[in-house]
Amino acid sequence: MAVDVILGLQWGDEGKGKIVDYLAPQYDIVARFQGGPNAGHTLKFDGKKFVLHTIPSGIFREDLLNLIGNGVVIDPITLEKELLALESTGVSYQGRLLVARKAHLILPTHRYLDAASENAKGKAKIGSTLKGIGPTYMDKTGRNGLRVGDIEREGFLKKYNALKEKHLNLIRLYPDIDFDLAAEEERWMASLEKLKQLQTVEGEYFLNEQIKAGKKVLAEGAQGTMLDIDFGTYPYVTSSNTITAGVCTGLGIAPHLIKEVIGITKAYCTRVGSGPFPTELDNEDGEFLRKEGAEFGATTGRPRRCGWIDLPQVRYTVLLNGVTQLVVTKVDVLNKFKEIKLATKYQIGGEETTDLPFDICDVEITPVYEPHPGWEQSLDDVQTYDQLPTAVQTYLSRLEDYLEVPVSMVSTGPERRKLILKEATATV
Ligand code: GDP
Ligand code: IMO
Ligand code: MG
Repeated sequence: MAVDVILGLQWGDEGKGKIVDYLAPQYDIVARFQGGPNAGHTLKFDGKKFVLHTIPSGIFREDLLNLIGNGVVIDPITLEKELLALESTGVSYQGRLLVARKAHLILPTHRYLDAASENAKGKAKIGSTLKGIGPTYMDKTGRNGLRVGDIEREGFLKKYNALKEKHLNLIRLYPDIDFDLAAEEERWMASLEKLKQLQTVEGEYFLNEQIKAGKKVLAEGAQGTMLDIDFGTYPYVTSSNTITAGVCTGLGIAPHLIKEVIGITKAYCTRVGSGPFPTELDNEDGEFLRKEGAEFGATTGRPRRCGWIDLPQVRYTVLLNGVTQLVVTKVDVLNKFKEIKLATKYQIGGEETTDLPFDICDVEITPVYEPHPGWEQSLDDVQTYDQLPTAVQTYLSRLEDYLEVPVSMVSTGPERRKLILKEATATV
């Protein structure tokens, strides 16, 4: 059987967690393939809310396996907190949550390096989540990292200490930051015990065997395509490949095994952290979107920057990922607007274009907007696609025309059940 992918087409927080949780029962395995505790995936059902950082969003569905893939970076302290939160709500995960031995570990000093680097950058800071993501991936590609499978091997402590010392030397090159390494190290070492209780696997063998045996896999992306290390708004990006290609390297599966690529976009756009955002609304409309959409980071609590949907940008990310179906989330957040806007072109230095420029971080981009009538009504009672107000349907059709991808699902609220399928068979 095949692997389907769910990923974000903007700057993250598109509602990936909600959609993965919704679709998970159609699969045998849900697997995270990149990122780490920088992610915050929110799930709401039965009046409860959960935010997952490292654990795949299939964990609340019975009878399926969840894999933290080799492409993920794991902070055992965060993972332990997530596991304890699951325990406190009576969710059993033993035997259902597997960890790839090749996944890299985030050390306390990776987090300090992240903070020192950001601090030194001053105004030019990336706005990182300070979870140690960049430094951990740097050690991975620099061939210095520690992996989950190393924990129980001889010499682990020696390797840990060598890496820690290297980090401390690097931190000394930066302006001073405060940290209490002894206390954090104790917590980190203690949390490794929790990680050791989980079943670890050679993720690539495991997944390929499962696929061969006819099992269905859903790969869950973190962050968004505009934060991709290669194609995002570099250097204001994360340190992993967030695109479909990342599924192959982050899980160890071949490209031909990938079937559906489900791309998620909000009906508008948000970004948290620094970097360019051509359609950002630094006005009362932006403030309204933030309030209506509760746009505050699920990991850091930071207010998210808000703006209109940017279609040249989504077209770019559809192209990079080979998106086969589109999910549009947070449509309800636009309910009260008399008029909404879609950016369809950019004006750069007097020229019009629909391509994202190489120097996107430095040039001034004026979006050219297409106005669209609002629907000015609640979507609370809408159960089917046909019941959506005409203005919503024409808005979605415009997205389909522009992006040349069919919309398969429309999300109208944070709860699991607030999802409208365009066709009964539209999922996978
Ligand atoms: P993720 O990182 O892509 O999983 O998204 P986040 O969980 O960080 O952010 C999405 C936020 O929007 C969460 O608070 C969700 O509960 C919420 N959400 C998801 N879908 C909808 C929707 O259709 N409407 C509204 N109003 N909220 C939504
Ligand atoms: P989910 O999976 C939104 C952003 C940070 C910062 C940049 C680099 O919930 O969509 P990092 O800590 O990765 O070095 O930060 O990337 N960022 C996210 N923004 N959603 C996320 O994840 C993000 N993960 C990282 O704000 O701008
Ligand atoms: Mg998030």
